Amino acid sequence: MTSSTPADLAAIVTRLRAAGCVFAEDEARLLTAAAQTPADLAAMVDRRASGFPLEHVLGWADFCGLRIAVSDRVFVPRRRSEFLVRQAIAVAAAAAIAQAAVSSAGQTAPDQRKLVIVDLCCGTGAVGVAVATALAHAELHAADIDPAAVACARQNVASVGGHVYQGDLYDPLPARRRGKVDVLVVNAPYVPTSEIGYLPPEARLHEPAIALDGGSDGVDVHRRIAAAAPGWLAPDGKLLIETSERQAGKTAEAMSASGLVPTITHDDDMDATVVIGSRPPLPPAAPGRLPPAGAAATTR
Ligand SMILES: C[S@@+](CC[C@H](N)C(=O)[O-])C[C@H]1O[C@@H](n2cnc3c(N)ncnc32)[C@H](O)[C@@H]1O
Repeated sequence: MTSSTPADLAAIVTRLRAAGCVFAEDEARLLTAAAQTPADLAAMVDRRASGFPLEHVLGWADFCGLRIAVSDRVFVPRRRSEFLVRQAIAVAAAAAIAQAAVSSAGQTAPDQRKLVIVDLCCGTGAVGVAVATALAHAELHAADIDPAAVACARQNVASVGGHVYQGDLYDPLPARRRGKVDVLVVNAPYVPTSEIGYLPPEARLHEPAIALDGGSDGVDVHRRIAAAAPGWLAPDGKLLIETSERQAGKTAEAMSASGLVPTITHDDDMDATVVIGSRPPLPPAAPGRLPPAGAAATTR
């Protein structure tokens, strides 16, 4: 932190306000706290006033109470994605309870297995890290196609001992995790191509198109993710995709098309929508017939 007088701080606030920063006082305090020297502070204020996202200038974002490293040209985790995290934690907690029930029934040894969490299109890895941080036993795998995002995610995911891979959607994930994923959590690009030009300049100019562009109706990546999800999910695993209220029906249709049963969840305060896909329930066994050998027991 560099020392600055109240007059210095007031000058920074005036400069940031003139540049259109709505929370100029808060930002001035954060920049002053982050700068090591007066020259550092001047450079940071210049970058912010010229339109760089605050998080790129600081080098971190506050997400779910965690300090997440954010490099230039990497998508800044949004506050609304904290709803996706909350939903994923709820799903994971239910899976852990189900697993504990199976363990206590003597079908598997207690603590035998960590929950497998996959954060696809992970960007900084913020979503997966927040989910894994909240769980006692989790194994996190995060993947992204963009090398800058992958390098950034490696810094963040190290805090929970997870793994980060680079490549297209599921391609780089370890094959041994097929059919074993308990929580597949996704915030992929979902802005329709024709609407990219209307995004705020901080996103349009400082985040890469691959992080934003979801194709003609914004749901192209969701369709690809949903189509391959059943092959990766554990029998009781769930797919959670952040989308918009307007696109939720199409994201849900993509899940239905792949054989999952979608549930749309929404939070008005955060203006956040998440579609959760589950496998359809098994049909009840016919009365008086034994299940085929090996069909009952554990589901994993
Ligand atoms: C909207 S950003 C979200 C990042 C992160 N999940 C978050 O919520 O902060 C979408 C991310 O998807 C990645 N992405 C886009 N297409 C991809 C693909 N085909 N395979 C893997 N990652 C992809 C982008 O590089 C970008 O980091």
